[in-house]
Amino acid sequence: MDKFIINGKKRLTGEVTINGAKNAAVAILPATLLVNGVCTIENLPNISDINIYCDILKTLGVKITQIGPNTIEVDTTKISCIDAPLDMTSKFRASYYLIGALLGRCHRAVVGMPGGCQLGARPIDQHAKAFEALGATVEIGQGKIQATTDKLIGNSIYFDIVSVGATINAILAAVLAEGVTVIENAAKEPHIVDVANFLITMGADIHGAGTDIIKITGVKELHGGSYSVVPDQIEAGTFMLAAVATRGDITIKNCITKHLDPLSAKIEEMGAHVEEINGDTLRVWCDERPKKVNIKTLPYPGFPTDLQSQMGVVLATAEGTSMITESIWESRFQYTAELNKMGAQINAQGKVAIFEGVEELYGAPVAASDLRAGAALIIAGIAANGITEISHLEYIDRGYEKIDEKFRALGADIKRITE
Ligand code: EPZ
Repeated sequence: MDKFIINGKKRLTGEVTINGAKNAAVAILPATLLVNGVCTIENLPNISDINIYCDILKTLGVKITQIGPNTIEVDTTKISCIDAPLDMTSKFRASYYLIGALLGRCHRAVVGMPGGCQLGARPIDQHAKAFEALGATVEIGQGKIQATTDKLIGNSIYFDIVSVGATINAILAAVLAEGVTVIENAAKEPHIVDVANFLITMGADIHGAGTDIIKITGVKELHGGSYSVVPDQIEAGTFMLAAVATRGDITIKNCITKHLDPLSAKIEEMGAHVEEINGDTLRVWCDERPKKVNIKTLPYPGFPTDLQSQMGVVLATAEGTSMITESIWESRFQYTAELNKMGAQINAQGKVAIFEGVEELYGAPVAASDLRAGAALIIAGIAANGITEISHLEYIDRGYEKIDEKFRALGADIKRITE
């Protein structure tokens, strides 16, 4: 079991370059199954979720060739329409995109019940609703999801709730369906636009991605091509909050500054600074103790739930009492118990957490409970006085490429040890 050992109380300064977005990449990879040809995917993050996805695609007969550190070639000319391996697909949440993609390509999909970070109940009823609207039969049971159809026919889909995954899955299933599909109450996250842009590049007819109504006109076939994954909004936000938490000064390169507006607004409300250097570079710095703010997580363009725990670290030492309301996931405050071991004073009850800002955190042994909680604990360890030991790095490895190297380059004293 690997651990991070952090010798804290370091002010982070310098430049960091952001990788491609995990949550776009884990949808674009299965989306290649809809293509009859060869796709080159650039700016692919080198993280464990992507490695597992590539292994799953290989079991379906997809040929994957690494042609650069962050570039692969995916040949989906000949695939086998067989069940996806249940043990591999149930390891992570994003395997549910195989259902939309395989339904589109093979008219049949069998996938293990998706696993992933423990954030509370993670139903997939809206995904099933979309597939059924397009003419598929969906059965969920015995640890797997099975969807079959003779043919997919475009239809209206009105989602009961805003769901990133269900929106992308509906797009995947609709791209090769016969006729027109209109998705209403769609999610608007940057990675939805990115998946749509990938499919459009390969010949799909999609309008409105990034708004709450998306119209897809089915096409007969998608062709190969090249695509570069959008920069990771959440990785960029993680480093922005690391700058504030350590009272540092970080220039964040290769990000889309517009995607970070909900976070930039909150950072400025706390009294720290964000300067847009150009459309893809931001400088974030903090000279004094940040002031309290209240946060409510919401679908894009609201404050992202995936930056909630990193923001929690900042609020743990902000001046005054702050409140975070988590409105997306049932259980995303597990990290607060770990921060309390480091001297924070956080009272989390259900979907609300109250942060009584303390002067400083001190190092302690803590455990990551999910991907973003893990990132938050790294930031806390770098800011805290003393030594912090973080276990369960497997969560962090799922979504951040070389996170320790990147923090070291900014002045953190962090090392990975294998016990
Ligand atoms: C995506 O999860 C992300 N994962 C999550 O990122 C992110 O937290 C989440 O979107 C919200 O932004 C990937 O993209 C792989 P949802 P997803 O469907 O698609 C409920 C990270 O740290 N819901 O938008 O699974 C659901 O329970 C991860 O990178 C239903 O009720 O999220 C939740 O309360 C963690 N029925 C809400 O909707 C459904 O059929 C939003 O979930 C689907 C979802």
